[in-house]
Amino acid sequence: MKSFFLTTPIYYVNAKPHLGHAYTNIVADAIIRFHKLLGEDAFLLTGTDEHGDKIVQAAEKEGVSPKEFVDLVSARFQELLPQLNIDYDYFVRTTDEAHKNAVQDFLQKVHDTGDIYFADFGGHYCYGCERFYTEKELENGLCPQHRTKPDFIHEKNYFFRMSRYLPWLREYVAAHPDFIRPERYRKEVLAMLESGDLEDLCISRPKSRLTWGIELPFDKDYVCYVWFDALINYISAISWPDGAQYARYWPGEHLVAKDILKPHAVFWPTMLKAAGLPLYQHLNVHGYWLSSAAKMSKSLGNIVEPGKMRERFGLDAFRYFLLREMHFGADANFSEDALIGRINADLSNDLGNLFSRVLSMLAKYFGSRVPQSEQRETDDDAIAELCASALQNYVQLFGRVQFAQALESLWELVRALNKYVDSQAPWTLFKQGDTPRLAAVMHTLLATMRKIAVCLWPVMPDTSLRMLEQLGQRTEKNEPPVASLEMEITSFEGLAADTELAPSSNLFPRIDVKK
Ligand code: MSP
Repeated sequence: MKSFFLTTPIYYVNAKPHLGHAYTNIVADAIIRFHKLLGEDAFLLTGTDEHGDKIVQAAEKEGVSPKEFVDLVSARFQELLPQLNIDYDYFVRTTDEAHKNAVQDFLQKVHDTGDIYFADFGGHYCYGCERFYTEKELENGLCPQHRTKPDFIHEKNYFFRMSRYLPWLREYVAAHPDFIRPERYRKEVLAMLESGDLEDLCISRPKSRLTWGIELPFDKDYVCYVWFDALINYISAISWPDGAQYARYWPGEHLVAKDILKPHAVFWPTMLKAAGLPLYQHLNVHGYWLSSAAKMSKSLGNIVEPGKMRERFGLDAFRYFLLREMHFGADANFSEDALIGRINADLSNDLGNLFSRVLSMLAKYFGSRVPQSEQRETDDDAIAELCASALQNYVQLFGRVQFAQALESLWELVRALNKYVDSQAPWTLFKQGDTPRLAAVMHTLLATMRKIAVCLWPVMPDTSLRMLEQLGQRTEKNEPPVASLEMEITSFEGLAADTELAPSSNLFPRIDVKK
């Protein structure tokens, strides 16, 4: 069985999870389920990033020890996962013993090859970013992110000889068009690599300044820089170097937002190269969810809480909206109006209405039992063809992380089915007593609806299974509803005659907006 490995960023535990984190996790879950639907052995990794100055400061503010603090906040991130129906396989924490050991092994390996050196260093350190800035990078002497004056720190530190691998990386990114996707981020990375601004990476912090980190295996007076530590989670969690999971799943692919493009597109591949490990396959980069046109932040008070959205609108409607509304790679604005608009138009009017009208017609005309049918006409063949091409597009676009377009392609089919109902007018066929034709129309509708329900499993897992149950199909919670999505494209098999279906359906009640 083909294996597939996907990771989310490991989140900092200095703040509560919000819509931005929920989005990345929901996309990751959708991708994992999609690969399961393709019959693959798919593994999803997520977790928390728990070392560094920021954590120590946040713990101090709460009056608890760093360890107590990270345990508490990490648990909050973990608790959110089942609430969002995220089917993850492992939750990694950078304070795990296994992770610490892997980071030390990795450091030792790179040290042994001569790619880590010790040097005198003076630089502008921003505590907010947990990194040094060069003179050139500062804007009017201030950190470009935090608008604060960095501290000038002079000390001896360890450096990773990243510059040695930059020309190779530039070649690699140029030669592999979908290594970093979408294209706009690949271009950004190429520009970074061509700018000449990248230098060796400072990978240590003296313990005199910071103790909350992983000790360097070759110098007990230093701890590892958080990013060098954090990135290694992607392999420590699958038991690199000797574990069976590492052998099975690496190399995998990563999912991140554009804020952490540079560590993933520059630091991580050069680290892997230096340690002699295979590179990841793809870096999938998405944009920001904005709220009132600004990036969500605690200080702006524009945070959208995923738990609240789920309570008010239902989890699957929320998941659908996030995947349908954001064009992967670009920023998107979150608004309740837009969410309600999609629920009413796409889910209630188009999809919900299709299920509701077809199931109630089947109840009325055939006592909710699938009739025998042989008589196919050109209109039915046209739907079967449209179904095959819509599914093919869906699979291709989803595979290229173009979720909005994939769903749009599926909705063309949903809307075509509603039109087919109108044009075939089953109520007239019923009145005329044309049972063979009526049966054929119902067959075409039900077969296509079943396929739509299957396709929606990655996006709306519970609703997909509910739709399939209404169509009399056997399902298992958290199991892909079919063994191979590709088979669904090539065959157009109807529902077995005499299957008993639900007499009615009300998947997405309309939401009334009071003006
Ligand atoms: N700890 C690092 C990542 C280390 S990975 C080896 C970190 N953590 S973070 O908590 O700041 O998470 C950043 C990630 O959260 C983003 O890359 C994205 O996945 C998600 N998002 C946070 N805010 C977001 C938005 N407003 N919109 C979309 N995603 C956002 O960086």
